[in-house]
Amino acid sequence: MDRTDADRTDVDRADVDRADADRTDADRAVVDRAVVVGGGHMGSVIAGRLSDELRGAEVTVVEPSADRAAALREAEPRLRVEESYRPVPGAAVVVLALPPAALDSFASGLPADAFHDATVVSIMAGVRLETLVARLGTAHVLRAMPNLAAEVGQSMTMLCPGPGADDDDLARAEKALSAIGEVLVPPDESFLDAGTALVGSGPALVAFVMKGFTDYARRAGFDAAGSLRLTCQVLRGTADLLEADGTSPEELYGRASTPGGTTERGITCLGEHRVQEAVRDALEKTAARSRELAG
Ligand SMILES: NC(=O)c1ccc[n+]([C@@H]2O[C@H](COP(=O)([O-])OP(=O)(O)OC[C@H]3O[C@@H](n4cnc5c(N)ncnc54)[C@H](OP(=O)(O)O)[C@@H]3O)[C@@H](O)[C@H]2O)c1
Repeated sequence: MDRTDADRTDVDRADVDRADADRTDADRAVVDRAVVVGGGHMGSVIAGRLSDELRGAEVTVVEPSADRAAALREAEPRLRVEESYRPVPGAAVVVLALPPAALDSFASGLPADAFHDATVVSIMAGVRLETLVARLGTAHVLRAMPNLAAEVGQSMTMLCPGPGADDDDLARAEKALSAIGEVLVPPDESFLDAGTALVGSGPALVAFVMKGFTDYARRAGFDAAGSLRLTCQVLRGTADLLEADGTSPEELYGRASTPGGTTERGITCLGEHRVQEAVRDALEKTAARSRELAG
């Protein structure tokens, strides 16, 4: 017979607490099933990587467009593709990868108790946790901001649990999102606007700056493939070096700028063009737009 919390004695409750404390992160992070709602760019990438990384888990994509659903079935035969959302049993993670403007119509068509015990992770830009909890009818909600590098398993994803999400929800969400790269949990939701600028828009902003490198390489006579390869390896090498050394960017360029040498000349030129100020300004404007969209 099922008992309520009120029926339990203090000894029972202590047993439950102890059993809960004995569970490891791996116990909490069990994911039997994943459902990705929205089979567009991000949704199909996430579903594909979940299928690769969550061994044995069943991965379903919900895609209402019949044409896109058929294309997904053909491109990714290992995924289940359905045209409407159905609740699934077990330790499930539901990733909402639909456009923010489609949330209301999706939520209004949901069956009662649509998410059972599922952990819901929204990647919709600018949709606040408060809105998600109110629309979805479950408190087991987290908000995440991944980026396009998910496609190569190199997303930097920010993940923020809602007030009703428990340790199991966080562990399951972290496990699911680590299929697309690294996961960082910020102190609270307010960090997600800056996170949207740094992480969500980050690859596009960095690519914009990288075009300066590829343009220069092309003008210097390298072919397109060579220009891209040089630029990417310099970017990757710099990132790895900074992380391995735990050095700050200014220490690295300071160390490389021998007085009177070649690098110093280039760094002086970037300073004169106020490149760092321009990048900070771009990030501030991107974050401000994220706040505007969230209303
Ligand atoms: N792209 C990025 O870099 C990025 C980064 C971080 C977060 N995000 C967020 O990720 C989400 C998806 O972005 P995306 O770039 O993948 O967009 P997308 O390619 O347009 O994909 C959205 C998908 O959701 C489907 N959809 C629409 N209404 C639906 C509903 N009611 N139920 C289920 N599916 C529905 C769309 O189908 P139809 O085309 O048939 O309408 C489409 O396949 C957005 O909320 C975005 O804010 C994107």
